[in-house]
Amino acid sequence: MWSSLKAYSVPSISYDKITEKEVNRRVIMKISIIGAGKMGTAIIKGLINNGQNPKQILVKTGHYENALNLRQSLGITAVQALSDLATSDIYILATPATLITKTLSELSNINQQNAPIISVAAGVSFDEMLAIYPNAPLLRCIPNTPVAINQGMTSFSTSSHLSDNQKTLAINLLNQLGHTIEVPEDKLGIAGTIAGCSPAFIDVFIEALSDAAVTNGLDRALSYEIITEMMKGSAALAAESKIHPGILKDDVTSPGGDTIKGVVALEKNNFRFAVIDAINTILQD
Ligand SMILES: NC(=O)c1ccc[n+]([C@@H]2O[C@H](COP(=O)([O-])OP(=O)(O)OC[C@H]3O[C@@H](n4cnc5c(N)ncnc54)[C@H](OP(=O)(O)O)[C@@H]3O)[C@@H](O)[C@H]2O)c1
Repeated sequence: MWSSLKAYSVPSISYDKITEKEVNRRVIMKISIIGAGKMGTAIIKGLINNGQNPKQILVKTGHYENALNLRQSLGITAVQALSDLATSDIYILATPATLITKTLSELSNINQQNAPIISVAAGVSFDEMLAIYPNAPLLRCIPNTPVAINQGMTSFSTSSHLSDNQKTLAINLLNQLGHTIEVPEDKLGIAGTIAGCSPAFIDVFIEALSDAAVTNGLDRALSYEIITEMMKGSAALAAESKIHPGILKDDVTSPGGDTIKGVVALEKNNFRFAVIDAINTILQD
């Protein structure tokens, strides 16, 4: 439904005066990223991959030299102080969660254009943020690291203070990074956990499959190629066909065949419960 945007020059925007159509086709000109560690950097890479002018991405980190390193490697604009971000068209908060309210407090004094603010911090609610910056035009989201190659899965929720135009602008930005799904705020935790933490599970699974392949004589690099391509294809088949995964599994398990024996061995080792327990354990913390 939402299309990607290509970079082109437009002047700075006033959200109250432009039509929704204009917002829809407009690339966001000046993007301020506050915090550029693992997630902030992944977002920056995804935006640049999608054609965003790196110079129009303003980056503030805890240590200025880290922003300077990103300027060197990615061509972004490094800034030293939050006040340097006063005329931004959109803000992305990607600091550790413990710094979000402090950052928002400062932002409330400098956000001259009432630009939308995207927080990627897990676990910091709208209520907590709005207590610091009343009426802030906020969108909360939980991206995952594949946003760096525009194949992210980002769940998001919007606050009631976000106008339609601000919401469109913010979602257009997120759509540059991959797939997006809007969920109610009380479902953001589980949606974000499934998308944000599971890449690590998948990596462990890839490594385990590769160990099995190497144990049985396959070259390591070749095994990674086979496994990752198999995973891409399996995920694409499930996503595109929308066929129940149990049926897809049935399709590759012939009676008395090898694959069903492997599935049974996984069940014997509590494969499904191990996955469910991993997610439940994360959510208990
Ligand atoms: N990593 C993920 O997969 C993931 C997924 C979903 C959501 N998130 C959320 O993303 C946020 C960042 O996580 P992360 O994994 O990217 O953490 P991280 O790698 O530790 O990065 C934190 C960033 O915040 C910067 N920072 C620290 N103090 C700052 C300040 N006063 N002003 C501006 N920037 C400051 C750090 O800069 P210096 O290094 O220069 O101090 C660093 O660039 C968290 O809220 C997390 O919940 C992360």
